Amino acid sequence: MPRRAHAHAAVAAHLLVSAFVAAAAAAAATYNVIDYGAVGDDGGVTDSARAFEAAWAAACAGDAAAAAATVVVPAGGASAGVAIVDTVVSAPGRSPNTDGIHIKQSTGVTVRNAVIGTGDDCVSMVEGSSDVLIEAVTCGPGHGISIGSLGDTPEQVAVRNITVKGAALAGTTNGLRIKTWAKANAGAVAGVSFSGVVMRNGSGIEISGVSYTDIEGTSATATAVRFDCSPSRPCAGIAMRDVRLRYQPPAAAAAEEQPAASFCRNAHGVAFGDVDPPSCLTE
Ligand SMILES: *[C@@H]1O[C@H](CO)[C@@H](O)[C@H](O)[C@H]1NC(C)=O
Ligand SMILES: *[C@@H]1O[C@H](CO)[C@@H](O)[C@H](O)[C@H]1NC(C)=O
Repeated sequence: MPRRAHAHAAVAAHLLVSAFVAAAAAAAATYNVIDYGAVGDDGGVTDSARAFEAAWAAACAGDAAAAAATVVVPAGGASAGVAIVDTVVSAPGRSPNTDGIHIKQSTGVTVRNAVIGTGDDCVSMVEGSSDVLIEAVTCGPGHGISIGSLGDTPEQVAVRNITVKGAALAGTTNGLRIKTWAKANAGAVAGVSFSGVVMRNGSGIEISGVSYTDIEGTSATATAVRFDCSPSRPCAGIAMRDVRLRYQPPAAAAAEEQPAASFCRNAHGVAFGDVDPPSCLTE
């Protein structure tokens, strides 16, 4: 299998890495890193990298042609310093609920040089994800790179300091997305930046409270930029710099690209540089 994973983990509780492969029909096999010797101590003392590699190798060596394999890192102590480097995750575009890499309740996670094709999010981050660096990720097919859903329950914790840089998204249905949250006591999203992203035939960006720098490409939906925020929790502090997205109708040739539109509801922020479609953010 063209799949390598090096998980350098001081301790890696709370991080769930799901790698789904091949046909959707068969039952999923699960490979728990604890069974391969990982230790989830609270202080991040024990190096569990070898356990991660062993679990991942077992997942790849299993009957992968027939089954989806999931590498599981159970919740436990504090988590810190997990790196997922040089990884290929492959699942059919029509396979449901197959997030490539799912990050939850984890601090200091790096995902670098990943090639992910799947039927759900390529990378998703939910409650309690902080200090996450996503670098050089190729995504498609798939939903894209997403944060959330957040705020379904009052105790959900914030997502902070997420950096996505140098991503290539092709044919992603949601692009770069922060799923909306509306409830009053929901978790917050702060310090998210997307930069250096090239999108092909995606669905633009749908977001809140973040910065977008140097994003370019094509959107398969006419509204390439969508800031749809609730009246009770409007999106504020959005910054866009050099964001250029064109509309490419499905099945049209590249030459038939058209101007795209942007949509803003309860969205406030500023735009700099070359922003097309023109920003609809208000101060
Ligand atoms: C944000 O996360 C990065 C890792 O992606 C880390 O190096 C940096 O120190 C964090 N910044 C803050 C203010 O915590
Ligand atoms: C865009 O992606 C859709 C599926 O999401 C596909 O049907 C279409 O052919 C793609 N168009 C181009 C120009 O790649």
